[in-house]
Amino acid sequence: MEHKTLAEPVLKVRNLKKYYYSGGGFLSGKKTCVKAVNDVSFELYKGETLAIVGESGCGKSTTAKSVIRITEPTEGSIMLDGRDFGKLKGEELKKARQNIKMIFQDPYSSLNPRMTVRDIIAEPIDIAGSWKDKEERERKILEACDMVGLNRDFLDRYPHEFSGGQRQRIGIARAIIEKPEVILCDEPVSALDVSIQAKVVNLLKELQKRLNISYIFISHDMGVVRHMADRVIVMYLGHVVEEGSKEDIFESPKHPYTKLLLESIPVIGKEVPEDDKELISGDIPSPANPPSGCCFHTRCPYATEECSKVMPELREVDGRPGHKAACVTIV
Ligand SMILES: Nc1ncnc2c1ncn2[C@@H]1O[C@H](COP(=O)(O)OP(=O)(O)OP(=O)(O)O)[C@@H](O)[C@H]1O
Ligand SMILES: [Mg+2]
Repeated sequence: MEHKTLAEPVLKVRNLKKYYYSGGGFLSGKKTCVKAVNDVSFELYKGETLAIVGESGCGKSTTAKSVIRITEPTEGSIMLDGRDFGKLKGEELKKARQNIKMIFQDPYSSLNPRMTVRDIIAEPIDIAGSWKDKEERERKILEACDMVGLNRDFLDRYPHEFSGGQRQRIGIARAIIEKPEVILCDEPVSALDVSIQAKVVNLLKELQKRLNISYIFISHDMGVVRHMADRVIVMYLGHVVEEGSKEDIFESPKHPYTKLLLESIPVIGKEVPEDDKELISGDIPSPANPPSGCCFHTRCPYATEECSKVMPELREVDGRPGHKAACVTIV
């Protein structure tokens, strides 16, 4: 996809931080602070898919939840459609949320078991009050139901009667019923059987074309990301370590961590050398006690003394606009 640098992004996130505090009580001892998201900035353009990748615990879900404000960010700004979404409250927030939705990993727990499929799909329009009469409500439900390929006869049933793939379709129908510009997809297919994954991924792509949706697509499956993404950001311990087009990241990765992440994709028939195995499985430091300097230096095969002291800035690399990495060893 052509990268529209001149266009205003639909979503612009600046210096986003989310710190979780725990402990500090009389018995629990010292107070700890987990810097789950630590100064993350990015743009999302109209109709594109921006993937967020990185190992478990690097802050992918916290980034998404902070952007949509399911959890309140500690710091940072979130501009949605040119409005300061991060500062909205009450009715204004409710209204702005019609334009940004989230799809969750677990289609089992993200649907209320006591609600019918019809009421689950209608939840966003019921909350927003965006229908005049029952007919309009039903029309919107049926439209969403058809768009995700759910059988209309299923609308009066309950989530437990469905397979994982069908439940995820219900979750997608709920997310698109108000035709939002932005959908945050947090590992939307990881809980599904491999045979179903491709179907759901293709449905998301089809809906994107039809409704011109912009996706933030969180996944640890680089194969799925390669299929889905236009651009990719790579996170490590709450930081963005590399950002670029899909081609930049997959064909010409620059950050040592990105290279490692790509090498760890299992390739059928290719044995991973013992040394690499060690690196890949090397312990990830705790975000409650991150390393000094570059957060990746403790696992990095190229780390120099400087890396343990200076935190590298995300800067343009490779002479390609939009391809950025945070590493001082790249020349
Ligand atoms: N509610 C919370 N309270 C305290 N710490 C939290 C909370 N939620 C997440 N964390 C911590 O924040 C860090 C980032 O977590 P997050 O869930 O965003 O990672 P992730 O990249 O989505 O991982 P995964 O791939 O496993 O889903 C982790 O260290 C996690 O333990
Ligand atoms: Mg997660």
